[in-house]
Amino acid sequence: MAMAATVVLTLFAILAAVTARSKSPLIDEADTRMVNKAAECVFGSQIKDLGSSWIPDLGPPINVLYCTRCECVKTQRKKRIVARVQCRSIKEECPEPTCAEPKLEPGNCCKTCPGEPSNEALQDIIPKNVAEEEEKNSKHYAALLTGRSSLVLRNDDNKPIPNDNKNNVVATGRFNFHRRSLYYSFYISDRAARPYRLQFVDPDANILEEITLSEAGGSVNSVYQNATRKVCGVWKRLPRDYRRLLKDERLFVVLVWGATNEFMLSGQIKRYAALDTELFSSLMEPAPGTTSMQGAGGTGIIYTSTSLTPSIHVAIVFNGLFEANETKDVPVEITLMDERKIPILKEIRIVSKPALDLNLVELSTVVSGPDLRSLTRGRLLLTVASLSRPHSLKLVGNIMTKTTCELFQTLLVPPQGDTTGLAWMYLNNEGYLVYNIQIDGLGHQKPDLIVLSDMSTKRKVELLDITSSYHNGWANGTQDKITPKIIEPLYSGNLWVSVAKGNYSMTKGNFTMAKGKLVPKLVADARDAPAPILLRRESNVPSSAVGLAWINVDNMCNLHYDVTLSGLGHPGPLDVYLEMLPMIAPGAPVIPRHLGEIVGGNLDGSTNDILRREELRRLDSGVAFLKIKDKSSRHNLTLLAATLKQIKVPATCLPQLTDDNNVGLSHLDANEDNMAQNGGDCFHGGRFYTDEASWTSALNPCEICVCRNGQIKCDTAKCPPLNCPNGQRLHPGDCCPVCIDNDDSFNDDNTPRRCQFGGRTYGHGARFHPYLIQTGFDECIWCTCKATRNETEVQCARIQNEKCCPTCNHPAVVDSMNGSMIGDRPRDAFAHHRPHHDPIQETKLRAAKIMSEGGCENPNDSLQPYKNQQVYHPVIASLGEYKCVTCKCDKGVTKCERPQCTREMCDKSRKARRVCCKRDCIRYRHKNKNQRAKGIR
Ligand SMILES: *[C@@H]1O[C@H](CO)[C@@H](O)[C@H](O)[C@H]1NC(C)=O
Ligand SMILES: *[C@@H]1O[C@H](CO)[C@@H](O)[C@H](O)[C@H]1NC(C)=O
Ligand SMILES: *[C@@H]1O[C@H](CO)[C@@H](O)[C@H](O)[C@H]1NC(C)=O
Ligand SMILES: *[C@@H]1O[C@H](CO)[C@@H](O)[C@H](O)[C@H]1NC(C)=O
Ligand SMILES: *[C@@H]1O[C@H](CO)[C@@H](O)[C@H](O)[C@H]1NC(C)=O
Ligand SMILES: *[C@@H]1O[C@H](CO)[C@@H](O)[C@H](O)[C@H]1NC(C)=O
Repeated sequence: MAMAATVVLTLFAILAAVTARSKSPLIDEADTRMVNKAAECVFGSQIKDLGSSWIPDLGPPINVLYCTRCECVKTQRKKRIVARVQCRSIKEECPEPTCAEPKLEPGNCCKTCPGEPSNEALQDIIPKNVAEEEEKNSKHYAALLTGRSSLVLRNDDNKPIPNDNKNNVVATGRFNFHRRSLYYSFYISDRAARPYRLQFVDPDANILEEITLSEAGGSVNSVYQNATRKVCGVWKRLPRDYRRLLKDERLFVVLVWGATNEFMLSGQIKRYAALDTELFSSLMEPAPGTTSMQGAGGTGIIYTSTSLTPSIHVAIVFNGLFEANETKDVPVEITLMDERKIPILKEIRIVSKPALDLNLVELSTVVSGPDLRSLTRGRLLLTVASLSRPHSLKLVGNIMTKTTCELFQTLLVPPQGDTTGLAWMYLNNEGYLVYNIQIDGLGHQKPDLIVLSDMSTKRKVELLDITSSYHNGWANGTQDKITPKIIEPLYSGNLWVSVAKGNYSMTKGNFTMAKGKLVPKLVADARDAPAPILLRRESNVPSSAVGLAWINVDNMCNLHYDVTLSGLGHPGPLDVYLEMLPMIAPGAPVIPRHLGEIVGGNLDGSTNDILRREELRRLDSGVAFLKIKDKSSRHNLTLLAATLKQIKVPATCLPQLTDDNNVGLSHLDANEDNMAQNGGDCFHGGRFYTDEASWTSALNPCEICVCRNGQIKCDTAKCPPLNCPNGQRLHPGDCCPVCIDNDDSFNDDNTPRRCQFGGRTYGHGARFHPYLIQTGFDECIWCTCKATRNETEVQCARIQNEKCCPTCNHPAVVDSMNGSMIGDRPRDAFAHHRPHHDPIQETKLRAAKIMSEGGCENPNDSLQPYKNQQVYHPVIASLGEYKCVTCKCDKGVTKCERPQCTREMCDKSRKARRVCCKRDCIRYRHKNKNQRAKGIR
């Protein structure tokens, strides 16, 4: 019994492993780029929460495995905790039927008696109370990462990793928990390079999630992270257990330098009340000249108030300032100095219970306006020092822009008129405001005023005039005169951008052309792109309609997007599409990708499945359009659209270049993506052609080309020898001249009459070899166009010579085929003429024939489809033929079933007992035994 269970478990484990990697569980995709996160399971293309369970649906031909339940469970791999899919049979959990003849209803696992309700629970079982924790308000946390962390890091052999923080590197993190995701931001000592990785660990230092932060050499593509010297990102979809760890302050964060863990810093993630209002931060390091503070550090959480009397509030989390004998009520001194080292304030606080890793002191005080202004310019120095040894136990740091990775964005919407635009800005490492404002619909007009103003108070103060930076539709710039009067409304979402014309008056607002309120947004994923994109209105939508989109591809090759719309009134649900082209050219093949549905004006998400290589290549070097379409309109009306030119895709996501760097269009991925996904499109003479298309070259009318698997093959037509009594002429656009004839071969408007043949036209009297896609020009057939006043006709005849007709009697008369066209082809003209043998082409033709006769696709081999009415066992990659399921192809529809294992089958068939019905047969045997024991038969 136990044996049997193991066998079944192994089988499903293999199935699950297969499905975990690829979209179709049956196809063993060679693509290994799918990286799933440690804290969640991937099943097929679905992401499953840790702790969730479901009944697997493998898709056709196997479909739902009703007697199986899969779970996403934690497993320990050395120091890592990873989520794994585990599937097991649930058949033995079926309740004992109460009647003699229970029946198995389709779609059920357990047999039921007539009249009994089925007891299947087909829905995914999601861990309870998920909703309870999805708080609307984000929660703020912070961590101090020093060499004095209470966390003991261990290597894979469970030995503690010595953490000699010789260089006194300190880091501080801020964490915002928002809709199941944990956004993180860090400041790290200037002397340290950018860390390579980030880990979230439990109190036993088991790694729960690991995120790569930098590319080789510690570089980062992000404009924001580069300009602010912050480390930013997000851990998405925290499982419930880990959300609890966070809430209980039992989650730790570890920064790792070097690919082989050369150096690590860790710290506990905790809540501090001051974080809710933080406006500035400080990273505090041992002061120059201190010697006995190895690995110590601190962080300041600061906010100011400018209403009524200017004041400042400082909270400091720190360690390393205590002597070994200082164990109770130890005083420390907090100092705030201006740039001339003149103290603005100096206060003593008592630490009642000094701790090795985290201590907290706080103070609030009134300061002068000028001092407050120095604060915003990073010129104030915060120190905290031991009172017993103030010179050797001292931490110091500048007051800087808040650690949280944040930017501020808005759409600019006109009160009337059609001036729209967008604005986004952030504070850089020096505390300067870096702003970018795009204004659309002004033409050559210039706005008379671009201004930032605080609309939170009744007075509505104009704070910053940036009109002079306007140039050609943009106002880009950096503003260093930043005061708390700007910072406060900026962070609280009360700062407005207004674009105005003429004598603008803020109170009246008559001349406002467009305005918008800046909203703080956390920087990660999509919003880590260099710049957002303006979506312009396309069709008949209100002139105030406008959109903003951030699009970014991360190092894992996932696409992230964040779309915000405004001014559309109250439309129904809208669809967001990304349409990718290799370039702008007629016939260019489009890869569309549905990103999602906008309901409330905003869509923020990521593609769960990794982008295909071809998509990534097009995003990187091609053209993409972002389109907002109206779901309800019949014609898929595009409301807003934007051209995305060359989104930056990390080099690691792009196909590798060949040695000679010769990356031609047809060359790239020729044998995988291109063929499978574009049907092998060809680019020729400035436009695209689909696979199997043929066309006359635009440059040479005698050249006919065909596109096959992305390869272009062109053939040049031979012109027949002419012997014309009345001379000859060449009609424009034709390949061969024709004899001048006196019959009525012209239309009334004097254009020559023409025949249609094989998608091409030929002038009256033209003689030509028909062109066959498979083989090129058939030089054994001559066709002639006869275009008389009443009708046009193409007559084709086989040439009867040694080469074309070895079995004919030579010389003989032409075997007239007198064929007008049948469909596109001369009747029978090429049935017997295949001079070149092309095995791949023939296999393809054969496959197409089977499919056209009601065959079914073979997911493992598109060239070997199943014939109509064929009965077969499906082939599962890495398992081989799966004999326990029988499929039948019926007029293009695959139906699969697992045989019902009846008692008779078990009694009769040894094979049934040993293979597919093993478990059922064992059950029957048990039942028999029991019944015999009870004397029933
Ligand atoms: C990063 O910042 C430095 C200086 O601030 C600049 O020279 C460099 O070009 C920036 N790199 C990126 C990728 O933005
Ligand atoms: C702690 O020890 C130092 C010497 O290491 C001594 O100077 C100091 O007075 C002691 N402080 C207390 C509070 O005992
Ligand atoms: C302003 O900045 C944006 C985004 O960085 C850039 O695309 C645009 O060209 C800039 N405009 C001007 C006039 O410099
Ligand atoms: C703005 O007002 C000033 C006086 O207040 C006036 O001289 C000027 O003509 C006005 N400009 C416009 C464009 O109305
Ligand atoms: C709308 O367009 C998308 C792609 O752009 C396409 O996939 C979808 O089928 C279209 N829907 C309708 C109703 O035409
Ligand atoms: C056109 O065809 C009709 C028969 O369909 C025939 O009677 C007539 O003579 C033809 N006209 C010419 C000009 O060939």
